[in-house]
Amino acid sequence: MSDIVKVSIDGIPVEVAPGTTILNAARQIGGDIVPPAMCYYSKLEGSGGKCRTCLVKVSKGSEKDPRPMPKLVASCRTTVMDGMEVQNITSAEVIEARKGIVEILLLNHPLDCPVCDQAGECSLQDLAYEHGAAKTRYEFERRKFERIDIGDKIQLHMTRCILCYRCVFVADQITDHRIHGILNRGDHSEISTYIHKAVDNDFSGNVIDVCPVGALTDKTFRFKNRVWFTKPVEAHRDCDKCCGKVTLWYKGEDVLRVTGRKDVYGEVEEFICNTCRFEKKRTDDWVIEGPRNVSNTSVISSNHYGSLHQPPVIKKNLALQESNKEQLERYTRL
Ligand code: SF4
Ligand code: FES
Repeated sequence: MSDIVKVSIDGIPVEVAPGTTILNAARQIGGDIVPPAMCYYSKLEGSGGKCRTCLVKVSKGSEKDPRPMPKLVASCRTTVMDGMEVQNITSAEVIEARKGIVEILLLNHPLDCPVCDQAGECSLQDLAYEHGAAKTRYEFERRKFERIDIGDKIQLHMTRCILCYRCVFVADQITDHRIHGILNRGDHSEISTYIHKAVDNDFSGNVIDVCPVGALTDKTFRFKNRVWFTKPVEAHRDCDKCCGKVTLWYKGEDVLRVTGRKDVYGEVEEFICNTCRFEKKRTDDWVIEGPRNVSNTSVISSNHYGSLHQPPVIKKNLALQESNKEQLERYTRL
């Protein structure tokens, strides 16, 4: 068997290893042709196949069997075949289906972005912005849940959950014992901590980073600020439990929150421990590496900055300080 498989996605050819999924083949090409993914998470084994946002059209099955696949397929769960041709953004059928998926995901999801901590870095918000319809056709009452504290640092707001299972995989694979999972089925499904037990182990905070919506939030950061008013800075420390490589989110001099470093698909590069996440919120706990590069399409880039400090030339020169007053005030406010 050949150790290379040739496939094309939206007309762009790519060679990948056998067993690669269509989604990961698309990620090797990168850019707009990469399907969105709300439940797949490259660092979590077995994730994917729950949300259907990554649906694509296989217009040619393979070189050996060129028949198209009869239905759209979940790209995170379908492996490529040699000669396969896939359509994502070039297929009107896929775009229409994705619009339908967004409508389904939003059936029970509240439109509370103005008060949600995830706003500005929410995958569902981005998806709804790109594919959502202006109105819902849903006429029934939405599911509502009371907020649940999962320990003293994490809050679950089940009303916003899209049942992607990522947090369950974190509990299963990253922490030492799982006391949290999905109960019931269909419209009654809910994330449960099995009678509200605290997830009190060193890696439980990672459920916050993997949640694609605002269902699991950091209680030490809740309502403190909008993410686009904070400044992300890369930093590290010697940690005996995790890699110690994080992003610090500053407002002025204060570290408001600590998260794992996320890649271009919003997935953490490495999981971090609760000590780094919740207990190290002073600048002198960390070795600062520099400002985090933020894509200019991200809402966080609205407060774009290129350096951590005032340029020395301005610092030393009163006239320059005066003429840059407004800019500098804005800088210190961020
Ligand atoms: S709480 Fe978040 S991570 Fe967990 S299943 Fe719901 S949406 Fe997914
Ligand atoms: S990312 Fe493929 S089904 Fe959710």
